[in-house]
Amino acid sequence: MRVKILAIETSCDETAAAVIEDKDNRPLLLSNIVSSQIDIHKKFGGVVPEVAARAHIESIIPVIEEALLESKTNLDNIDYIAVTQGPGLVGSLIVGVETAKAIGITNNIPVIPINHLEGHIYANSLAADLKFPLIALLVSGGHTMLIHMDSHINYQVIGKTRDDAAGEAFDKAAKILGLPYPGGPAISTEAEKGNENKYDFPIIDLTQKPKRDENMFLKHSEPSMDFSFSGLKTSLITKVRAKNILSADDIADFSASFQKGIIDNLVQNSKRAINKYKPKMFILSGGVAANKTLRKTLGENIPKDIEYIVPEFSLCTDNAAMIGSTAYYHIKNGQIKNTEIFSANPNISLN
Ligand code: KG4
Ligand code: ZN
Repeated sequence: MRVKILAIETSCDETAAAVIEDKDNRPLLLSNIVSSQIDIHKKFGGVVPEVAARAHIESIIPVIEEALLESKTNLDNIDYIAVTQGPGLVGSLIVGVETAKAIGITNNIPVIPINHLEGHIYANSLAADLKFPLIALLVSGGHTMLIHMDSHINYQVIGKTRDDAAGEAFDKAAKILGLPYPGGPAISTEAEKGNENKYDFPIIDLTQKPKRDENMFLKHSEPSMDFSFSGLKTSLITKVRAKNILSADDIADFSASFQKGIIDNLVQNSKRAINKYKPKMFILSGGVAANKTLRKTLGENIPKDIEYIVPEFSLCTDNAAMIGSTAYYHIKNGQIKNTEIFSANPNISLN
């Protein structure tokens, strides 16, 4: 297979383009350009959808041009365009999808719609060949999921959050502590100076209480792999309110303890998934995968006979390289569909 892919990602607040080529039967990254809007949204304390869509419109073409230039490619050599179809902010998604379709039609290049969530998973395929069965822990600003995969492009969601996503919990906790947006990096920097055992943020176990059968015997209930983070956030609010003023030490201790609470929850359910599915590989992905303590703690909790991989830091948060590598495996596995008739879909699911 000889193929070159231009990938585009605009699902939230990063405008991104990348070029991927196949090399020795693997996706090789030739360029990866990300124009972040963090500075624009920081003053609002979070992403403002309308502002994000307008910023994408301004930067999408320069970002694509830069990705092509850096990869020493032009559109004549591109075989496929891959673009994030969803989930994400509808106004942001439309900019990427319609730009991809316009370039595709005018240059006669097929356009492949890609799910942003599979993109996060496939960021790992740029680091190593995926080995099946695998378990993926996907932790981002909008999603927290455990996914079981038996083969490429084949997803079974086995655990998900019932309320906030892990990244969202970090972002909300940062707001409560007066730290800047995005909250994850801010909390993790503060956490390095704090005592993670100062405050208790418990593991939430959503396993159903055992029920009795018709003979009144207790029926076994499977350990739940679902998550809930909103209680941790409420607990943080209560603890912070109990203090009049937050000292620098308080902020560091709250950050460290809250981060530990999130990680303990992620580790518990990851271990449950490993026990049940006995995977060959465990992969971590999504923006929260950039958290150094999470990367290390998970690594310490995964049995040594299971290969554990994480994307490099720049490929954890939103980027187009991951969208291109997903498209690479769609093409390789003959899974391309809807190359012409598709629209942005903000609520698309993984299966
Ligand atoms: O994957 P991503 O870039 O966007 C979504 O698809 O949502 O993830 C962004 C999320 C934000 O909530 C951000 O606070 C979090 O990832 N994040 C982190 C870290 N870096 C980014 N969370 C914890 N620790 C970090 N170092
Ligand atoms: Zn994302």
